[in-house]
Amino acid sequence: MPERKLGFAIVGCGFISAQHAWAIKESEGSELRVACDIDLSRARALATQYGAEATADFAAVLRRDDVDVVNVCTLPVLHAEMVVQAAQAGKHVLVEKPITTTLAEAERMIAACRQAGVKLAVIHQLRFSTIIRRMKEMLDSGAIGKPFFIDVTYRTFRPQSYFDQNERGTGKWDGGGAFITHAIHDLDVILMLMGPVRSVMARRAVLGHVMQVEDAGGALFEFASGALGVLTTGTCVKRHHDRTVEIHGPEGTLFHNEKVLERYVTRGQPITYAEIAADQPGTLHKIQVQDLIEAIQKDREPVVNGEVAQRSLALVQAIYESCASERAVHLAEYSEVN
Ligand SMILES: NC(=O)c1ccc[n+]([C@@H]2O[C@H](COP(=O)([O-])OP(=O)(O)OC[C@H]3O[C@@H](n4cnc5c(N)ncnc54)[C@H](O)[C@@H]3O)[C@@H](O)[C@H]2O)c1
Repeated sequence: MPERKLGFAIVGCGFISAQHAWAIKESEGSELRVACDIDLSRARALATQYGAEATADFAAVLRRDDVDVVNVCTLPVLHAEMVVQAAQAGKHVLVEKPITTTLAEAERMIAACRQAGVKLAVIHQLRFSTIIRRMKEMLDSGAIGKPFFIDVTYRTFRPQSYFDQNERGTGKWDGGGAFITHAIHDLDVILMLMGPVRSVMARRAVLGHVMQVEDAGGALFEFASGALGVLTTGTCVKRHHDRTVEIHGPEGTLFHNEKVLERYVTRGQPITYAEIAADQPGTLHKIQVQDLIEAIQKDREPVVNGEVAQRSLALVQAIYESCASERAVHLAEYSEVN
């Protein structure tokens, strides 16, 4: 007998909700039942498109027997309370990145889900991108030897109007600027490719906008392996490629700029040159929805569970601590498990 479809509810029907709704529709075994937003017109727009019901009442969503999974797509400071309430109502959760804005809140979310016996999955979709997975496979197969340096850039552009909207430039809803809103994806990838971070030194600044949180920053990592790394990020940069990742080891270099993946074993031309088509919007969210469905069905942990997501949050918090203290910050507690 085919398994009953899992009922999904999306809470927060803003920018990212479209990718969740599409991913739920395209995945086997899932169905969007409710779209919820305090702005009912947004909930209605999404619900109409996907044949779901609309509501502005989150508590009513949690009372529904036909909702098994709640996708929390509100701004980060709202994540913790919504996830805890969903867990206490017996719902599995798929929450957007960053898991939340403080480590204490992350612990509370993880504990609530564990206590309720529900799954907690966090969107960190870059882990599943074709180009990053290929890079990881090449590293694991020893393509450049043991990596000793990583250089990541994620520099993009948002107009002033983006930060003026809904207090975005204040950090009130996100817990910070470019590091937590945008580069959290890159911090997750850095941990995935290079392993635990022992310490970090960082600086942040406002260089291209009028706003309270950083639109530019740089971090220098020392990994538990002894390797070093740098990340530069910013939402004030006008250029062609948003993201590049370059990893060096004793046998060569891996490089990607979201479009090509190259491997060098000597100076000059790459010996492996692969054009990898960019993943279509929504496909990586779909992989994470499918992973959660399988985790529920097989009673296993999602690939990006609360603990995995907590590591990039710990790293971004260490970055902010270093920016404030102007000193290196050690990540003893989390470096063991990165
Ligand atoms: N994975 C990615 O690539 C990616 C990209 C963009 C945003 N995000 C993340 O997605 C989350 C949402 O970001 P966004 O850009 O979609 O924000 P958004 O501001 O466009 O949407 C948030 C929505 O939540 C609604 N909302 C606020 N309070 C609510 C409440 N109490 N109950 C129900 N709805 C409520 C708002 O009305 C709004 O429609 C954030 O965590 C963000 O970091 C992830």
